[in-house]
Amino acid sequence: MIEYISSVKLNEAGDKLVILDQTLLPRETVYIELDAIEDVWEAIKKLRVRGAPAIGIAAAYGLYLGIKNIKTESFEDFYKIFKEKLDYLASSRPTAVNLFWALKRMDERANKEKHKRIDEIKKALLDEAEKIRGEDEEVCYKIGEHGLSLLKRGMGLLTHCNAGAIATARYGTALSPMYLGQERGYDFKVYADETRPLLQGARLTAWELIQAGIDVTLICDNMASIVMSEKKIDAVLVGCDRVAANGDTANKIGTSGVAILAKEYSIPFYVCAPMSTIDLSTKTGDDIVIEQRNADEVTAFWGQSHAPDGIKVYNPAFDVTKAKYITAIITEKGVVYPPYGENLVKLFE
Ligand code: MRU
Repeated sequence: MIEYISSVKLNEAGDKLVILDQTLLPRETVYIELDAIEDVWEAIKKLRVRGAPAIGIAAAYGLYLGIKNIKTESFEDFYKIFKEKLDYLASSRPTAVNLFWALKRMDERANKEKHKRIDEIKKALLDEAEKIRGEDEEVCYKIGEHGLSLLKRGMGLLTHCNAGAIATARYGTALSPMYLGQERGYDFKVYADETRPLLQGARLTAWELIQAGIDVTLICDNMASIVMSEKKIDAVLVGCDRVAANGDTANKIGTSGVAILAKEYSIPFYVCAPMSTIDLSTKTGDDIVIEQRNADEVTAFWGQSHAPDGIKVYNPAFDVTKAKYITAIITEKGVVYPPYGENLVKLFE
């Protein structure tokens, strides 16, 4: 039995968010307790909690923690502070739409309950955050089932970044088919891109898969072409931070290069996307805001500088894979094939 790691949940007393500090992995497994909304903001910004679904879950709980001590009996007064806190959390990271999706759900719930007492509204918001977390677990399991239906025993799989259990409530998205396959004896051979600059592949994906007993080999990002040319890869599976209405998909920097390579070697390239990551209000990939991060993530490996002082740096955290490179998008509702413009809309009907 695989033991799935829970990276974001509320403590038993319901007054603190407990997160696995992903910046310390794989050397240290440290859970930290957060009770201030500012600490939740910081944890998202600094990638202590990361991965699109986990960010959404953390933000929903963070918003609850931010409003649970508001003292007023007036909904108008309550809602004004609620909105300020919501906007504050929304400013933590721009690309993963799950953050905004989860906050929108919290906003809709607050408005739905607006005629109730403030203490009842607070309870409802806690319930909504719990639902967001609980649903994500089911969603990821279904993505695993649909993903697995496209794969065969013994296949070689490549993944980029970390779309695993710790990036979600459970199972992960791109890693979910690998986990379910492992439970059913599929014997996959997984290749994990290290994923520069922050090494989510080396530090997180490799760590997760090893613990699950899955055969995983770590490669540098620039080795994807050789492993493909040597026929070690039968399919690529990645997660995503936002899918635009035309199927263009933002995911961790480097993903688009892997997709272009996969096309060259005629290897299927699958994007695993919960419905909460599909954003029909964003028309194409050009409309997705790409997060720019600090230069020191590129010039230094976790504090150890390896570049000349003052060097100019460009550090986009994500890139957009054009829809034409994506063989299929695997969702909890099933597998979506091109033309994405039409088929993604159908998914929501
Ligand atoms: O900057 P990160 O580590 O939050 O980026 C994460 C990714 O790009 C993941 O692939 C994506 O969020 C999907 S997680 C299920």
